[in-house]
Amino acid sequence: MPNTILVGAQWGDEGKGKVIDVLTDQADLVVRYQGGSNAGHTVIVDGKKHVLHLIPSGILHPGKVCVIGNGVVVDPIELLHEIRMIEGQGMVTAGRLWVSDRAHLAMSYHKALDKADEARRGADRKIGTTGRGIGPCYGDKVARNGLRIGDMLAPHFSDLVTQRVGAANATLHAMGAPTLDPATECETYLTVARALMPYIADTLTLVHQADADGKSILLEGAQGTMLDIDFGTYPFVTSSNATAGGACTGSGLSPRRIDRVVGVIKCYTTRVGEGPFPTEMKDAAGEDLRQRGAEFGATTGRPRRCGWFDAVVGRHAARVNGVDFWALTKLDVLDTLPVIKICVAYACDGKRYDAIPACLETFSRCEPIYEEMPGWMEPTSHITRYSDLPLKARTYVERLIGLLGGRLGLLSIGPARETTLRMAI
Ligand code: IMP
Repeated sequence: MPNTILVGAQWGDEGKGKVIDVLTDQADLVVRYQGGSNAGHTVIVDGKKHVLHLIPSGILHPGKVCVIGNGVVVDPIELLHEIRMIEGQGMVTAGRLWVSDRAHLAMSYHKALDKADEARRGADRKIGTTGRGIGPCYGDKVARNGLRIGDMLAPHFSDLVTQRVGAANATLHAMGAPTLDPATECETYLTVARALMPYIADTLTLVHQADADGKSILLEGAQGTMLDIDFGTYPFVTSSNATAGGACTGSGLSPRRIDRVVGVIKCYTTRVGEGPFPTEMKDAAGEDLRQRGAEFGATTGRPRRCGWFDAVVGRHAARVNGVDFWALTKLDVLDTLPVIKICVAYACDGKRYDAIPACLETFSRCEPIYEEMPGWMEPTSHITRYSDLPLKARTYVERLIGLLGGRLGLLSIGPARETTLRMAI
């Protein structure tokens, strides 16, 4: 069975949770490789809806082993909360869930710094972060001031926390933001550390052993290519490599051990937070798409900005990630539209752009060049074979894949597990 990287090809919220759920069937080990509790996967257990931010949803599949890799920034309080929630559903996590001792800790002071930094930027420069402390935590990691999961095992962990809270307080104070009480922080994190001890492991060895034993590994990305710190719309991005390269650095699995890359892409586009979005629909049609697609953030509940499919974004993701197979999602959301637009290139200053310009100022002025296709105007969610889809729906899907390159691996036509047409993956 292949080792697979699964990546988001747009600005996140492509429907990765459902595709991961389907691909988990083929995997022995599911590894989350970047991001933190900014991500949100909605999972339904016994009719009850839960949102997992850190733990791979593979935990809900009996017999699957889940790893939170070294590239993830882990909020230990949130992790403990999710473990308790899953155990509360009668599922076992001990021996099936491992968190890397090399993963960095996303602490309360990172959240406070995230909030203070957004306030400092003001309405016109703010990133629109999820407020989960992601940027400040990765910032500490790169500046070599971070605390790691493995530090929770050290006898002087509370000294480390006291020291870091003190340093964060100095910054918060200078920014005019409320500070934190070091003693309370220490007490909280010591309690959490004790509870998490059985889950801490050298996941590098675990991943390598699984690979050596011929197990199939699914590397699960969060967010999406356009939110990648290097290849996204910087600075309106998250602070990690959400793209395929991040899967190797965030798990320790060599690029030579990857067999295939699956890109998840929605049949239209959404974005949460600030930053340019060329195909955004700021009209009633955009609102209609938001309602039909239930486009509200799983982590923050914020309404997502909605727009037409952007093939320039898709091709960018295809190149950066080396996508072999596409998981195309939410086709059914377009069922009622008489005309559907696809952005095939941009125009700016009299010039045509077939690739994403690195300059944010140029990108923010790019006008989409659209191609129009007739809608199929009939429901699709009940269909069980690709060939039974309306001809116009198939023509739309095939046009998208033609513009992207690669192969169609899976087509999702509704939120339920059964509303998935599997082709090549
Ligand atoms: P941060 O990751 O909280 O720092 O937020 C940075 C940007 O990434 C903001 O525009 C967020 O809205 C966006 N973002 C972060 N995580 C997700 C996600 O899981 N889905 C969609 N957007 C996200």
